[in-house]
Amino acid sequence: MAEETCSALATTAVTNGVAMWQVVLLGIFAFPTIFWIVMYLLPQLYCVIRPVPDLKKRYNAEWALVTGGGSGIGKAISFKLAKQGLNVVVVSLDDDILKDTMKQLRETFPKQQFKSVGCNFSPGVDYLKQIQDATNDLEIPIIFNNAGFMVTGFFDQAPLGKLLANMECNATASVNITHHFVSKLVSGKKKGCVVFTSSVAGFIPTPFSGMYGATKAFVSQLACSLHIELQSLGIDVCAVHPSPVSSNFYNNLDHKIEILESACKQAVPPEALPDDIFRSIGVCALRDLGGMAVGSRMGTFWLPYNFFTEVFATAAPYLPDWKTHNKTRR
Ligand SMILES: NC(=O)c1ccc[n+]([C@@H]2O[C@H](COP(=O)([O-])OP(=O)(O)OC[C@H]3O[C@@H](n4cnc5c(N)ncnc54)[C@H](OP(=O)(O)O)[C@@H]3O)[C@@H](O)[C@H]2O)c1
Repeated sequence: MAEETCSALATTAVTNGVAMWQVVLLGIFAFPTIFWIVMYLLPQLYCVIRPVPDLKKRYNAEWALVTGGGSGIGKAISFKLAKQGLNVVVVSLDDDILKDTMKQLRETFPKQQFKSVGCNFSPGVDYLKQIQDATNDLEIPIIFNNAGFMVTGFFDQAPLGKLLANMECNATASVNITHHFVSKLVSGKKKGCVVFTSSVAGFIPTPFSGMYGATKAFVSQLACSLHIELQSLGIDVCAVHPSPVSSNFYNNLDHKIEILESACKQAVPPEALPDDIFRSIGVCALRDLGGMAVGSRMGTFWLPYNFFTEVFATAAPYLPDWKTHNKTRR
C-alpha cells in the first residue's frame, strides 16, 4: 500500500515536473512576443488617449516650419499649427498650389504671419540658402520635414536623375533642414521638435518604389538616432508612418500600382492626421498611424527580414503590377 502511494506521488511529481518544464519553455518562447506586443502597443495607445499637445505653449514658440506645406498632409499640419496660434513658414514647390494655400492661411488667420518659400528640393538647387534667407531673422523651434513624392516602376527603368531627385527631396533635404535648425536650437539652448513624415514603405520592402522605401527607412532611422541624441536637450524628434491619405501624392505617380490603388480605397483625408501626429510628439521616436501601418508592423515584426524579402521575391512575379511592368524587361 505504502509502495503504491509512493509511486503515485512520483508519477504526479514527474507529471508536474514535465508540465512545469513545458510552462517554463512556453514562457521563454512567448515572452519576446508578449513583450513586443505590450511595448509596441503601450505608446501607440497612450498617443491615442493623450490630449493633443499645444506646440506653441510646449516650446514657447512663435514660428513653425513645414516642408511640403502647400498641399495634402503638410497643408493640414500648417493649418493645425496656425490654429494653435503659431506663425508658419510654408516651404513647397513654387507653384499655384503654394500660392493658393498661403492665401487660404492668411484669410483664415488674418492676425498671424505666414511666409512662403517656393523652392525645389532637387540636386544642385541651393534650397537651404533660400530657406535660410527667408528665416534668418526668425526663431523656429518647430520643424516638420514632410515634403515627399514617389517614383514608381522598376528601379532599372526609372531615369537615374529622377531617382536621385527623389532621394534629395525625401531624405537629403530633411538632413539639410534638420541640421540647420537643430544646430540653432542646441546652440541657443532652446527646446523644440522635429517631425519627419515617413511611411509604411520605410519598414517593408517596396518593389516598384524602391527608392521611396529607402528614403523613408532613412528618415525613420535618422529620427530614432536624433530622438536619443536630443531628448535630454528638450528637443523632441519623431517619425510618423501614415496609412494611405487621399492627397495629390497618388495623382503625381508615373505608373498605376494596383496594390496602392486598392490601399487608397481606405485613404483618410489629410485633415485627419495632424491631431494624431501632434500626439506622437514627445512620446515616441516612431509612430504608426492608422490600420494599415499598425497592421503591417504587427503582421511582419516576427518575420526575419531576409525571410520576408525572400517570400516577397517568390510571390512578386505573380503580382499584376509586376506582370504589367515586366513586359519590356528580360
Ligand atoms: N498620401 C499618403 O498616402 C502618404 C502615406 C504615407 C506617407 N506619405 C508622405 O507624406 C508626405 C506628404 O505627402 P502628401 O500625401 O501630403 O502628398 P502631396 O499632397 O503630394 O504633398 C507633398 C508636398 O511636397 C511638396 N513637394 C513635392 N516635391 C517637392 C520638391 N521636389 N521640393 C519641394 N517640395 C516638394 C509638394 O508640393 P506641391 O504641393 O506643389 O505638389 C507638396 O506640398 C510625403 O513625404 C509622403 O511620402 C504620404
